[in-house]
Amino acid sequence: PRFFIPCDAAAIAVDADRVAEALQVAAGARGVAIDIVRTGSRGLHWLEPLVEYATRDGRIGYGPVSPGDAAGVLDAALAGTSHPLCHGLTEALPFFAKQTRLTFARCGIVDPRSLEDYIAHGGYRGLAAALDAGPAATVAAVTESGLRGRGGAGFPTGIKWDTVAKAQGDRKYIVCNADEGDSGTFADRMIMEGDPFVLIEGMTIAAIAVGATYGYIYVRSEYPHAIAALEHALGEARRKGMLGAAIAGSSHGFDMEVRVGAGAYVCGEETALLDSLEGRRGVVRAKPPLPAHKGLFGYPTVINNVLSLASVPIILDKGAAFYRDFGMGRSRGTMPIQLAGNIRHPGLFEVGFGITLGELVDEIGGGTASGRQVRAVQVGGPLGAYFPRELFDTPFDYEAFAARDGLIGHGGIVVFDDSVDMARQARFAMEFCAVESCGKCTPCRVGSTRGVEVIDRVIAGEQRAANLAVLEDLCHTMKLGSLCALGGFTPYPVMSALTHFPEDFGVTPPSRQAAE
Ligand code: NAI
Ligand code: SF4
Repeated sequence: PRFFIPCDAAAIAVDADRVAEALQVAAGARGVAIDIVRTGSRGLHWLEPLVEYATRDGRIGYGPVSPGDAAGVLDAALAGTSHPLCHGLTEALPFFAKQTRLTFARCGIVDPRSLEDYIAHGGYRGLAAALDAGPAATVAAVTESGLRGRGGAGFPTGIKWDTVAKAQGDRKYIVCNADEGDSGTFADRMIMEGDPFVLIEGMTIAAIAVGATYGYIYVRSEYPHAIAALEHALGEARRKGMLGAAIAGSSHGFDMEVRVGAGAYVCGEETALLDSLEGRRGVVRAKPPLPAHKGLFGYPTVINNVLSLASVPIILDKGAAFYRDFGMGRSRGTMPIQLAGNIRHPGLFEVGFGITLGELVDEIGGGTASGRQVRAVQVGGPLGAYFPRELFDTPFDYEAFAARDGLIGHGGIVVFDDSVDMARQARFAMEFCAVESCGKCTPCRVGSTRGVEVIDRVIAGEQRAANLAVLEDLCHTMKLGSLCALGGFTPYPVMSALTHFPEDFGVTPPSRQAAE
């Protein structure tokens, strides 16, 4: 008998290790030899720790399982009898069945420590296709797939690779941005912990495509399990000839290492990340030059988010057209959306672009965990706009969100119920910017601190109209005058809170004004 229990940080945080131990002890007491495979998470976070049992029809899920439940789950699974924590086939659960898993195809299924398991589930087919096609055709395939940077900016990945491929340099680098700092996001972590080889494969394909010989994965220090999973996977890949002087027996040499950040949000900004990798304090650099021309140590560098790189193997394996067929408008393929905050069904939901915000929050997410009304959702991390229910018809698409003064960012959705105070949330956004500002430019460094003071005066009701005018003016200056997205995007949460929830700032909403 074979069981699967995640070793993902989110599952471990709710006792998955002790559940695995208890299951093994219970099996021993019954004289039954069982095999427990520690996988990544399936992304159904409200069911963690999710224990799955392999049957001929598929994996049957039990969750959330506590160590005390383990023996009962074991007996029910082996006897095929019912159990209150049994959810039937995991893949038949609506949360799972409604997904299109391309980037996360293997996450929660394979043993992340086993290269053989990765290969048995279609791993390294993308690299084989890239080696067959050659560098130029590989870049062309990524361009044709329509893949855009999943870190948040949505810049076409193929164009970035093409720029690096054509740049002159004695050396070139691939840097993976795994400094996942957005509130409510965990997709990068899940991939690194649950399917690390797909990231290594994606980086290897990128290296061959642009002529790079070395890579770095810059991971935040808050992700110790991801760091350990990557280190193990890199060792395995090296031992089996998938990294090193002659990758997979080809003439291409490529190797990489993991570097650990020290906790600054701004180090997720690509040029500050480069500073940090070079051994300095992470401070944003002015662009141009673009990292694609002059990046790490002054050499042409591809910097891509984990999800962008992890999406590349399936594009090369199944073809650009296969990937491009999913999505809407200029947002092609799938997006791993992360549902978090006050939501009944938090977790990872990968789906083609185009699903609406309302479907995600109400149908997939099941509304709030508290059972109260959903009042606001913040999409795109701490720099993303707050959307009220009236905007729930917005499709998940880069352009559709931008048209409504929002951004999808890295795909994180944080849900708030009707107890939220949106003026406090606006203050939090400004305070976050003040704390995390790298200090390089004035609108952000000074503006964010003044912004907190102004919002405090609005909340206190001091000269409210005059202070709101100052706040709007300040947001305008930060948006247009900041050097990077931290200062430039902080106005999004602040202004969206004020626009959509004016009553929390002591302002009568326009609709009520008209009625009066
Ligand atoms: P950006 O628009 O300046 O650049 C996007 C990417 O395209 C960069 O890698 C840039 O070097 C590259 N690029 C631009 N023009 C190019 C060209 N002609 N040729 C080749 N490459 C080119 O955006 P930025 O400042 O890098 O990112 C901002 C985004 O980051 C925001 O939208 C925000 O959502 C996101 N973000 C993500 C976080 C996370 O945790 N994943 C945290 C904070 C912000
Ligand atoms: Fe630094 Fe803020 Fe300016 Fe970005 S906007 S460069 S974080 S001071």
